[in-house]
Amino acid sequence: MSNVAELLLLAESIARETGALLRDASSRELRISAKSTPTDLVSEADHAAEHLIRERLAAARPEDGVLGEEGGDVEGSSGIRWVVDPLDGTINFLFGIPQWCVSIAAEDASGTLVGVVYDPSRDELFSAARGGPATLDGREITGSTKADMATALVGTGFGYDAEVRRAQAAVVARLLPDVRDIRRFGAAAIDLAWTACGRLDAYYEHGLNPWDLAAGGLICECAGLEVRPLEPVGPSAPGVVVGPSTLVDALAPRLA
Ligand code: IPD
Ligand code: CA
Ligand code: CA
Ligand code: CA
Repeated sequence: MSNVAELLLLAESIARETGALLRDASSRELRISAKSTPTDLVSEADHAAEHLIRERLAAARPEDGVLGEEGGDVEGSSGIRWVVDPLDGTINFLFGIPQWCVSIAAEDASGTLVGVVYDPSRDELFSAARGGPATLDGREITGSTKADMATALVGTGFGYDAEVRRAQAAVVARLLPDVRDIRRFGAAAIDLAWTACGRLDAYYEHGLNPWDLAAGGLICECAGLEVRPLEPVGPSAPGVVVGPSTLVDALAPRLA
């Protein structure tokens, strides 16, 4: 088996195991604290999930680096770095809304090599390896081919900082009259996975972190979509718009 196929299998198996841990935790009372702002929450489940992922990666591939939302960047020596969001959609998770996932990617010097997004609530596993097809539960998926912005269903998300949200709200106010509708589901990696399989025509968000984008971005590319960087709005970090290229051409100027 090639190295890439091994990396993908490892990511899939760790994502499923972590999803099961989180599913169990979701019915328990959890310790919760605020992170960057009072709206930005983290729970013991986020930490336990990342701990499990790091343990499994260290056992299988001790030379690899790992960047995770809760544990930071640990350098490796193999040229492979894992980029991990142990629980994407923490707010949904803590409010009992079944829209959260585990996102695991591996990257090398040329970019993202494999990406897996596992949604335990629906038992849906999205995956891709660079240059190959994107799949949902092993079946090939492709993204929307829509070119017409007026009938496009567009997903987005918002950061945790009030000033960033003011700028993001202004973008939504500009865009909403010109598209079919806008969805804010609350888990960026699922937004990307759902764009990859055509449940959304396009998705954009300003200020994503690498762990939000790494796996889902590759899955979208492998599903035939363009992943185009966006300039920051307000004090946000740069953004990304994802969809069929003609639609991305139409959307991008409105998202600045
Ligand atoms: C957040 C979610 C949300 C997105 C935010 C992310 P977290 O991730 O993906 O949908 O809008 O930008 O930070 O904190 O739940 O892992
Ligand atoms: Ca978070
Ligand atoms: Ca996230
Ligand atoms: Ca997270």
